[in-house]
Order: sequence, then structure tokens, then C-alpha cells
Amino acid sequence: MKLFGSMEIRENQLYIGGVPTSELVKEFATPLYVIDEALVRDNCRRYVKAFKVNENKNKVAYAGKAFLPFAMCQLINEEGLCLDVVSGGELYTAHKSGFPLEKVLFHGNNKTFEEINMGISLGVGRFVVDNFYEIEKISEIAGKYNTTQKVYLRITPGIEAHTHDYIKTGQIDSKFGFTIVNGDAINAVKKVLEMPNIELAGLHAHIGSQIFDVKPYEDEVEVMMSLIKEIKDETGHIITELDLGGGFGIYYTEADNPRETEEFCELILNKADEVAAKLNIELPTLVIEPGRSIIGNCGTTLYTVGSIKDIPNVRKYAAVDGGMTDNIRPSLYNAEYECVIANRAGDKADEKVTIAGKCCESGDILLTDVKVSGINSGDILAVSTTGAYGYSMSNNYNKISKPAVAFVKDGNAKLVCRRESYEDMIKNELGLY
Ligand SMILES: Cc1ncc(COP(=O)(O)O)c(C=O)c1O
Repeated sequence: MKLFGSMEIRENQLYIGGVPTSELVKEFATPLYVIDEALVRDNCRRYVKAFKVNENKNKVAYAGKAFLPFAMCQLINEEGLCLDVVSGGELYTAHKSGFPLEKVLFHGNNKTFEEINMGISLGVGRFVVDNFYEIEKISEIAGKYNTTQKVYLRITPGIEAHTHDYIKTGQIDSKFGFTIVNGDAINAVKKVLEMPNIELAGLHAHIGSQIFDVKPYEDEVEVMMSLIKEIKDETGHIITELDLGGGFGIYYTEADNPRETEEFCELILNKADEVAAKLNIELPTLVIEPGRSIIGNCGTTLYTVGSIKDIPNVRKYAAVDGGMTDNIRPSLYNAEYECVIANRAGDKADEKVTIAGKCCESGDILLTDVKVSGINSGDILAVSTTGAYGYSMSNNYNKISKPAVAFVKDGNAKLVCRRESYEDMIKNELGLY
């Protein structure tokens, strides 16, 4: 297993943030999400520097959907990032954590009346408007509050990128945003400009996830800045902010070869300079929305190994005390991970095993045919790179409770989310009687 940030092996045991994993298990039990706080902060700082947040007034908005406990809202605020939320629940979490809401971008393709109302009344910085219906709703609700709400329009730029491939034309078949080629984008601009209580501050696009190549982003810059020019020429309105979304790829296994944050940001910023000069338009404030690339590698899940089933000449299964309830990505889209036996982390990994979850689903397999240093009931299994879309996608299938989350740093561990209890899980049950 590749070691990230503060991970190290001391006396054959995996340590994270200077804390032995055996201590974490003793104190907080398993399954447990462990977050390397120093690495999260370092990732934030690298983005802030590389994307020239202080120098050029660009913005890095952390995509909260990746992982959004209070502790994360507080950390990213301390590190000078903005926040992207996609629901009333995420907005409420940010609000209750004390996050300044003028630094929030509110996304979503079907925001309800209540969500829009909550966003406007709490003073959300920007709504990322997805459709014509929402333009009217925001204008109406902002009018009620006698305020003017700043918005971005979500544009479908005709580029869709996923991992190694991308499609540059077409891909207008998306539930998100205003399409450029059929005229919806420019019509949406005109509509916002004529409606009261709503102000067009910028444009937004997001082209996919786990993208390693910078070319689709460069194409996105070109498409979006051409639209900014078209808007200026047709309406006279100057778009001052351009949000390019997130999706920057990270290492999960040896098959992944991500670029350094610095290189990615520099290429994007250079491209924006070049295109602005070519089109003779002013360079807008640039915004990016990384989620996974800030938190993914910072998270490790610790499990206890329970039952082991060896089917000779077929497969050896080892089951852990979690599974698709704390990490649904392998079952959902065959996501792959690396792991190590934390209590024998330095031993040679030469035994092939498949790690099963405990849910009543044959598809609940966390890692298939991975190499470990032998595996026994009672071992602690550490799965790396579970920081993004692990806790945030966790669920209560089979009435399994959500694990705890601990931040580790400088030899100390802090519990930031309690483990869900059975009582927590039934608190909304009213029953028949
Ligand atoms: C609009 C938007 N912004 C940002 C992100 C974050 O993507 P990632 O976590 O891959 O960086 C997503 C992910 O789905 C998204 O939909």
C-alpha cells in the first residue's frame, strides 16, 4: 500500500499522524475513518498557492460532497478556501459549523423552494443556477427579502471527461446545466439580465471526475471564455467570475498517475491567460472546486478482520466489520483500493485475498484479489484513500451504523464524528403504536 502524508511504519505497525493504528482501534473501535489532518491542510495550502488565491484573487472552493463534517468546514475556512454545497443539508451543516456563508456556492439541479429560501435568507454568496425554473424562483424569493442574489449559470460545455478518456463534442445529454449549442446558455444569460433581484456574476462548468489529463480543462477554458466573449458582444454584460469545477484525479492504485497540483493549476492558469489575450477579453476571477484531490488520500479506513473463508483453488475471502455501508464505491462502480494489514505493515505482502464486507449482498466486496502479508481473524486492515466519498456516501443498509471519524496529527487523535449508535438509527421511528 502506498503511504501518504504522515503515514509510516514503525516496529512493523502502521502509524498515521504519529499515532499507532492499534491505539486508534483501542480508543475508537472499528470501522474507523482516520483523517491525516496535516495532509489535508497541506493539500489546501498547495491549492491556495498554486491557484494564486492571494495573488490573483482566484478562489478554491472545496467540494463538500466529498466529505463534510463540521471539522472539515472549520478546517477549510481556516485555510482560506470557499465551499461548494449541493443541498439544504450540506448548507445547514456549513452554517451550523460556523462557516461564513458568503463564501459558499450553492449547487444542485433541483433546489427546492425551501432550499432556495434558506440559502437567500442565510446570505449564501453565489447560487449556481442550473435551469430556467430556478432563475424565476431565485428572482422571486430574493425579491421577498428585498435583496439581490448573485448567481453563476451552470453551463454544459460539450466536454465530458472521465478518467483517461474524454469526449469533446456532444455530451449535451446531461441533467445538469444550460447547453451552449442549442442556445439555452445565451438565453439563460438574457433571462437573468432582465429579471429583478438576481445578478449574473459568473459562469460555471464541471466536466467530470477522477480526470488525469489537463487537456479537457484547457478545452473547457477555451469554450467557457468564448462564451464570455459572446455574452459581452451580444448583451454588453461582462462576466467577471469563471468556475471550472473539480474532478482532478488522485492515486487509488498503481494504475493511477495523477499530476501534481502545482502543475495542473499552472497549466490551467496559463491557458486562461492565453485565451483571454487571444479573445481580447478581461481575465475573469477563476474558481476551481476540488473535492477528492483535497481529502481523498488523507483518509484511511481501519477495519477488524472477522471470518475467513478459503475455497481451495478458487478464492480466499476475509470479511471485515464494515463494507458497502462505509464505502459504497467498489460496489457502485468497481472502484479499486490498496490495503495493508496494519499490525504487520512491514511484512511482505505475498498472499492473495479478497476482502468482503458484512452486508447481506454478494456484491459487497471491498477489494478483490489483493496481496496482503497473510490474514487472520483479529487483524486490523487499513484501506487507504477512503477520505473522499466514503463517509459522505455512507448509509445504514442492513441497519449498520455509520463509523466514527478521527482526525490525527502530531501524535494526537481527536474524535470529530461519533460512531452512530443503534439509538441514533431508530430515533425517527414512530411505529404503529
Ligand atoms: C459541480 C461539482 N463540483 C465539484 C465536484 C468535485 O469533484 P471531485 O471530488 O472529483 O474533485 C463535483 C463532483 O461531482 C461536482 O459535481
